[in-house]
Amino acid sequence: MSERPIGVFDSGIGGLTTVIELRSILPCEDIIYLGDTARVPYGTRSRETVVRYARQDFEFLKKLGVKFIIAACGTVSSVIASEKGFDDGCLGVIAPAAEAACRSTKNGRIGVIATGASVRSGSYERLIKNIMPGAEIISKACPMFVPLVENGYFARGCIPAETIAREYLEPLRARGIDTLILGCTHYPLLKDIISDIFGDGVKLISSGAEAANSAEKYLEKNGLLNKKNTPGDIRMFCTDSPELFRENAEHFIDLEGITVEKCDL
Ligand code: DGL
Repeated sequence: MSERPIGVFDSGIGGLTTVIELRSILPCEDIIYLGDTARVPYGTRSRETVVRYARQDFEFLKKLGVKFIIAACGTVSSVIASEKGFDDGCLGVIAPAAEAACRSTKNGRIGVIATGASVRSGSYERLIKNIMPGAEIISKACPMFVPLVENGYFARGCIPAETIAREYLEPLRARGIDTLILGCTHYPLLKDIISDIFGDGVKLISSGAEAANSAEKYLEKNGLLNKKNTPGDIRMFCTDSPELFRENAEHFIDLEGITVEKCDL
């Protein structure tokens, strides 16, 4: 058992979709969240830059004494998979999402939507093919989704978000997928708009939520769960204005009683 907090980070507020899931399955765990809001988006940057940012995110959380880190960022998860120094006590979102998609698909046709950097890395394809060699994977980068979400444009009825989503996703719908990985942790916030396009026949897999489920299994297996039975404490850090972070995040997560502090990496 360990009472140390779990560290979770993302380039911005998207990783909070993982925090929401973590909080519901492990309500007694303390969580420290870092959103690198001064440098979001990561997904349009080069691999070297994303790796450099990821190392700084890790170091920041490690210094705060976390017991385990979730890289709640598809972009970081896909580029660090082949880098040294990240594998110890760390979980990304790609493997949990790939496993869930393979469990879900009936016709073997899986769609992946993610940032440009994630799609270019080929990480989702590689992991899905390892599990299900015969799977057909259709990937699509959706670079406008992160800025839309960071600016609060994601609810059903939001015309700019719906227009961009149709532009990106209609061709994917025509390919007959039955499972779609939301490979970036910002995308679950666009879930209503995305499911309106695909309809009930396509199962949406949220990479951040799957990572939270895998984190629970990892902590249990390694004897690291917090056994206290009082609600966990949550601290949040961001690299740009805490007021802006709060304003954007409060569109979908209740931050009452949670402090958001500015930090430098
Ligand atoms: N939430 C991040 C991801 O999962 C967004 C990346 C970005 O900042 O572009 O990929």
